[in-house]
Formats: sequence, structure tokens, C-alpha cells
Amino acid sequence: MTLASPLTSGRIAVTGSSGKLGGYTVADLAAAGYDVVALDVAPAPAAVRDVAVAALTVDLTDLGQVVDALEGCDGVVHLANIPAPGLRPEGVTFTTNVAMNQAVLSAARTHALRRVVWASSETTLGLPLDTPPWYAPIDEAHFPRPESTYALSKVVTEQMAATYARWTGVSHVGLRFSNVMTTQDYRDLFPPSWDEPLARKWNLWSYIDARDAAAACRAGLVASEEALGGAGSAPNVIIAAADTCMRRDSADLLAEVFPGVELRREVSGTGTLFDISAAERILDWRPEHSWRDTLEPRA
Ligand SMILES: NC(=O)c1ccc[n+]([C@@H]2O[C@H](COP(=O)([O-])OP(=O)(O)OC[C@H]3O[C@@H](n4cnc5c(N)ncnc54)[C@H](O)[C@@H]3O)[C@@H](O)[C@H]2O)c1
Repeated sequence: MTLASPLTSGRIAVTGSSGKLGGYTVADLAAAGYDVVALDVAPAPAAVRDVAVAALTVDLTDLGQVVDALEGCDGVVHLANIPAPGLRPEGVTFTTNVAMNQAVLSAARTHALRRVVWASSETTLGLPLDTPPWYAPIDEAHFPRPESTYALSKVVTEQMAATYARWTGVSHVGLRFSNVMTTQDYRDLFPPSWDEPLARKWNLWSYIDARDAAAACRAGLVASEEALGGAGSAPNVIIAAADTCMRRDSADLLAEVFPGVELRREVSGTGTLFDISAAERILDWRPEHSWRDTLEPRA
């Protein structure tokens, strides 16, 4: 079988473009030369309208609207969802996310889009870790451990993506994002946790800079099908920063807060307790930003 060429240019729909990660992703892809079609149920902010070739107000739970909106696109970066547990009633979170994800994957199939990149979540791996992790660093095999209907919606969508990938021969790349942070978030959220080891134990003190998360979306578009595992592959990879949000050594934190959890390989200093080597290997992506550049810049 001939493998399709990577999507290094063309018209890319970004769903959830009015949201936190969507704004960074629209900017990243437009700067890289893509024609970006911004799709969201909420109006597009000026920064999105300025760089997108089109910005449509779409309810992505409605398949007919999604089929219309993806007309003429080459690929999709699907970020729209209810983005966390506890924002809406449990059942609404599940059914809304699954309806949206089914509609986007189905419409992508209708238009024979060449690549689907979508936002899964670190929550599929057992967050908020009320039950300790099986081991650390947590890797892609620490799955499935959904503990909320939000996480369950992402687990279900990973199965849906694998199925659509098999049906279509088009690769679907799932990005299991850690907690997405802006530089303002660093100022607001991280200092209060430095003396409170329990405050952010729920994801092993992990995070991902929004700029690096956007770059991972682009990496999902340009990755070769060989790297992804062949036509119709559906890899799901962890996207996290290279360090934790803490100033203490990660191995010490783990031993104190999760005594008895096996640390399967050495983690030096404040290194991440998530394994991000799959994203590096498969997507040729690595994080470039740390909160330390904002809060503790070198002189
Ligand atoms: N923020 C995080 O820490 C984090 C971590 C892991 C995964 N994720 C995932 O990343 C994605 C983006 O997250 P975010 O933080 O940017 O969320 P966000 O809430 O800021 O953005 C989501 C966007 O989706 C849109 N949306 C919701 N329902 C819609 C519908 N029916 N039709 C059209 N648009 C709709 C919203 O209007 C919003 O603009 C989500 O899929 C989320 O689950 C986020």
C-alpha cells in the first residue's frame, strides 16, 4: 500500500478554536503556513479571526453542521470538548463529548480527510490518582484507568479513533495532554503548590505549556505514516512538559506522597514522572518550554 504524504500544508480545521488550547493551536498552524478554518460554538476571538481563513460558529454535536463545516479541508485538529470533569453534570460531559467526537470522526471520514489529530487526556491514565499509580513514570501502557465520565469519554474516543482509522486507512493521532498551562497560569497556580506536596499530586505534578501542546498538534499533522505505525494507525501519546511544577526532586516527592509505588527508572532532579518518550519517537516532538523560564529565568 502506498503511504499518504504528511500534511505539511493545506487547509486544516481546528475545533475548539475559541478555547484555551485552540487559540494557541490556530496561531501555531497559521504561522506554519496552513490555511486554518476555526470552528467553535463560541464566537472566535479577534486573534483567531485575524489569522484564520474562516471562522465558523458550529455546534459540533450536530453531524450535519460538522459535515458542512469540514467541506474542503485536508485535515482536522479536534480540540473541542467539555475539557474537564466537574464542569457539567457527569452524564452530560460523557454524552456531549462522545457525540462531538463521533460527529467529527464521521465527518472526517465523509470528506476523506488525510489526517485526524485530536485531544485525548492524561486523565485516561488514572487521574486524580486517589488510587496510587501502578508504577512511575506513568507511560502509555498505564491505561485504561478512567475515574470520571470525562476520562471515560476520552477512553471511548480512543477506541472510536482506532476503529475509524481501520475503516478509512487514515491515521488518527490522539494526544493525551497533561494540564495545559499559559505563562499566566504559572504565576497563579504553581507557587502556592511548592510547599504543598499534596496540592497537585493528582497528576504527579505534571503540566504542558500551551505553546508546546499546540506544537504537538502540528507534529501530529506532519508525522509520517511510517512513524505513526502505517496507514490507518491510531497511536495515543502522552504530551507533558519535561519537568514537574515543583522545586523538589521528583523521586523524593513520589516516595513521600505515594510510598511503595515503584519508580521503574531513574528520574533525575525535577524531571517529569510521565514518560514522554513515545511522543518524541513517534511524532518527533519534544517540549521546549518550562515554567522555570517564566518564574525562575536564568540571569
Ligand atoms: N486544558 C487542559 O488542561 C486539558 C488537559 C488535557 C486535555 N484537554 C483537552 O484539550 C481540549 C482543549 O481544551 P481547552 O483547555 O482548550 O478547553 P476550552 O474549554 O478552553 O476549549 C474548548 C472549546 O470547545 C468549544 N466547544 C464546546 N462544546 C462545543 C460544541 N458542542 N460545538 C463546538 N464547540 C464546542 C468551547 O466553546 C471551547 O471554546 C479538550 O478536548 C480537552 O478535553 C485539556
